[in-house]
Amino acid sequence: MTAETSVLITIVTLEKREFMRITVIGTGYLGATHAACMAELGYEVLGLDIDPARVASLSEGLLPFHEPGLPELLRKHVKSGRLRFTTSYQEVGAWGDVHFIGVGTPQRAGAGAADMSFVDAATTSLARNITKDALIVGKSTVPVGTTRRLKSLVRENKRPGVRVNLAWNPEFLREGFAVVDTLAPDRLVIGVDSPEDEKILRQVYAAAVAGGVPLISTDFETAELVKVAANAFLATKISFINAFSEVTEVIGGDIRTLADAIGLDARIGRRFLNAGIGFGGGCLPKDIRALQARAAELGADRSMRFLDEMDGINLRRRERVVDLARVMVGSLSQTRIAVLGVAFKPNSDDVRDSPALDIADRLADEGAQICIYDPAGNLNASRRSPQHNYVLSTEDAVKNADLILLLTEWDEFKALTPEGLSAQTGARKIIDGRNVLQAKAWEDSGWSVASPGRRFEANHLTNMPPSEQLQLSSGPAA
Ligand SMILES: NC(=O)c1ccc[n+]([C@@H]2O[C@H](COP(=O)([O-])OP(=O)(O)OC[C@H]3O[C@@H](n4cnc5c(N)ncnc54)[C@H](O)[C@@H]3O)[C@@H](O)[C@H]2O)c1
Repeated sequence: MTAETSVLITIVTLEKREFMRITVIGTGYLGATHAACMAELGYEVLGLDIDPARVASLSEGLLPFHEPGLPELLRKHVKSGRLRFTTSYQEVGAWGDVHFIGVGTPQRAGAGAADMSFVDAATTSLARNITKDALIVGKSTVPVGTTRRLKSLVRENKRPGVRVNLAWNPEFLREGFAVVDTLAPDRLVIGVDSPEDEKILRQVYAAAVAGGVPLISTDFETAELVKVAANAFLATKISFINAFSEVTEVIGGDIRTLADAIGLDARIGRRFLNAGIGFGGGCLPKDIRALQARAAELGADRSMRFLDEMDGINLRRRERVVDLARVMVGSLSQTRIAVLGVAFKPNSDDVRDSPALDIADRLADEGAQICIYDPAGNLNASRRSPQHNYVLSTEDAVKNADLILLLTEWDEFKALTPEGLSAQTGARKIIDGRNVLQAKAWEDSGWSVASPGRRFEANHLTNMPPSEQLQLSSGPAA
């Protein structure tokens, strides 16, 4: 947030905005953040979720997930009464003027396409219960064509005599930075089909726009596509550098220097060029698969086929870490492996499609004993992968380990030193899955260090069979 943005937002939010009542349907990562931030902007807000436990927790001002800065906003506005939560569509439909939809659009089981059942159910329930003129605004990430389809659904289900229209306003927030991204986003995109709806949304976002945030008003299809295009681009950028890391793993070279050097080209930029274990989380993987599935439905599958290759490069990163682990310890069976970090990214407890957790699961499948420590993600990970041992500190994770894997770049792991860690464990082998350690310093202290993008000089490991040396020097597994 720039200084000017923050000043303007403060000025505009001083006045309580009672004239527009906002509801947020689905109070997960996106919805709870949006609801609290709308309250921060001065609106009266009512959040709805079908999960009663979530509603109970939020109503007490307790955030059921990890997001820096959000617990404070939630508590502040629950206390002030400006932010409430319910499970009742009847209450929401009778109360709200603008209804944001932020329910999930996960990958459909057994297919690449998005599961639209939550969005469809939320839209139908809303339309049936709205008793005064209102605007429904979708924020979930959806296949292109959804808004137009949902307009028919609303028409079929709304009450007679009530004007209910639909707009789409894709969300670009990043977990870990969700509050600032919501209050002062890089840009706002709205897909509308009437000037009245554009006016309403410009009013909703008046503070951000006054603070200099660009608002792009466009048609439904463009708005829907902007979101998936942005995610496809970011996924491609990450997979691009990881494809080069497969080359440097074979021939040698320094992938970080390569990224720095190409990143200095202003047309390319350094961000999202970190070679590592690849992308994961609740968005990028499922969004690029849903985009391909939608393109295929539209007969444009060739246009998006490159994303299949990006997905493949991304998933090979996980295999590479398992291969490295196998080579570093000889056999994975009964090997004790400490995993530092399982959230898909730092500053989040989200383990949906986490590359780190997937790697831990694959290692356990080969007989390794996994001990995990993540500053925020232990609970979510233990629900998905209860077969592992979870502990509350790095020290507890590493003390009996044969091998250490750093898989999420939390600050506390980036700050690890070979001297500090050597005092806590007898292990002297580490895989730096995120390329955040200075490998040379660790090696000078007697550690074996492997990381994605780095040619692994395995022959100094005494227990490595020659066949496995061959496997690594001939490049990543197919
Ligand atoms: N998480 C992110 O960083 C992020 C960023 C941008 C966009 N998005 C998109 O936002 C959407 C939501 O993602 P999320 O991460 O917040 O998901 P989430 O799983 O954390 O939250 C979804 C919530 O919707 C609720 N829900 C499901 N069906 C409902 C219904 N019929 N009525 C009311 N509530 C219902 C669930 O109980 C859950 O609390 C997805 O489309 C996602 O792609 C997410």
